[in-house]
Amino acid sequence: MPQINEAHRKSVGPLEMPPRLLLGPGPSNAHPAVLQALGLRQVGHLDPSFLNMMSEVQELLRYAWQTENRITIPVSATGSAAMEATIANIIEPGEVMLIGNMGYFGNRLEDMASRYQADVRTIKKPWGEVFSLDELKAAMEEHRPKVLALVHAETSTGARQPFEGVGDLCKQYDCLLIADTVTSLGGVPLFIDEWGIDLAYSCSQKGLSCPPGASPFTMSDRALEKLSKREGKVPNWYLDMSLVGKYWGAERTYHHTAPINMNYAIREALRLIAQEGLEARWARHQSTAELMWEGLEAMGLEMHVPKEFRLPTLTTVRVPAGVDAKAVTSKMLNDYNIEIGNGLGELGGKVWRIGLMGFNSRPENVVTLLAAMERVLAEVGYKK
Ligand SMILES: Cc1ncc(COP(=O)(O)O)c(C=O)c1O
Repeated sequence: MPQINEAHRKSVGPLEMPPRLLLGPGPSNAHPAVLQALGLRQVGHLDPSFLNMMSEVQELLRYAWQTENRITIPVSATGSAAMEATIANIIEPGEVMLIGNMGYFGNRLEDMASRYQADVRTIKKPWGEVFSLDELKAAMEEHRPKVLALVHAETSTGARQPFEGVGDLCKQYDCLLIADTVTSLGGVPLFIDEWGIDLAYSCSQKGLSCPPGASPFTMSDRALEKLSKREGKVPNWYLDMSLVGKYWGAERTYHHTAPINMNYAIREALRLIAQEGLEARWARHQSTAELMWEGLEAMGLEMHVPKEFRLPTLTTVRVPAGVDAKAVTSKMLNDYNIEIGNGLGELGGKVWRIGLMGFNSRPENVVTLLAAMERVLAEVGYKK
């Protein structure tokens, strides 16, 4: 039997964590009402009250995503699992999947698609840029894919990929469209049905201001039809929507034990979105981000992405010459309890990533961030 030191066993105290302001690429701080919901008393996962609540989660999620898709659910895992669910359900071995890769999460899509034996084709953009409709059309013509996947909000670069017209293009080529909306849902205008998106996934820990662990997933009737005509089984039992869909559908048949309290939490997060209203919420994210961009520019800093394609939820700020990027993020965390992110992949050491997502997208957080940044930059020797 593994032993624990007797004195230590008795002295282990309750868990305490530092009061961080999470202004990195995610997670964002959960809304206090969401944390309260998380602590509500449990019921069983097949209890009538829980089954009713599941319907509310679906209805609220359809609103947040602007879709009428029947299969609109939170996957019981983080965003990467919801991402994998889109590919696992829709790709059959040997089918051509085209990936618009403009950053780190495009790489992840490529990796996942290859594991499901897709014939993966990619088009690439320098990190910080996005694809034009003409570029996408040329790639569709060349590759004739069964599925096109694009990242709406690339968290590694801070770029927003426009989707207007992409759904129509896909229909023209009889292709299904996957959208990664992990850093856009709940913060950036997003219209699943109007844009003709067939499969989308997201996470709970960014624009929804909920802890990580319940990840939105949706699929259209077109996507469901392809799923129903598969030759083989979905090669991932846990994420097979023909099974999971029965738990979230009219049957409510047991599939796995839903993380009960996480569903309370995401219901509360989605309720807060409905209460605020999508348009007001998108406008709040935009105006808070603009306040921050102005403040950073006044300090002589440059944003990496042109304003037209810049995400309000995640900003990449260029690290000025001679400044040690990691020294700044460490000081922000250790001296001011503020988390901001370092650059990822190709942008490592070149940018900081600052998130203003969901509950955290408020002017007082911008003022706190700017004041701390100014002091920390001066301490590491930066002069405007
Ligand atoms: C654009 C994008 N896609 C996918 C993911 C994966 O989500 P998770 O870390 O919740 O598994 C992330 C996480 O940051 C992301 O930013």
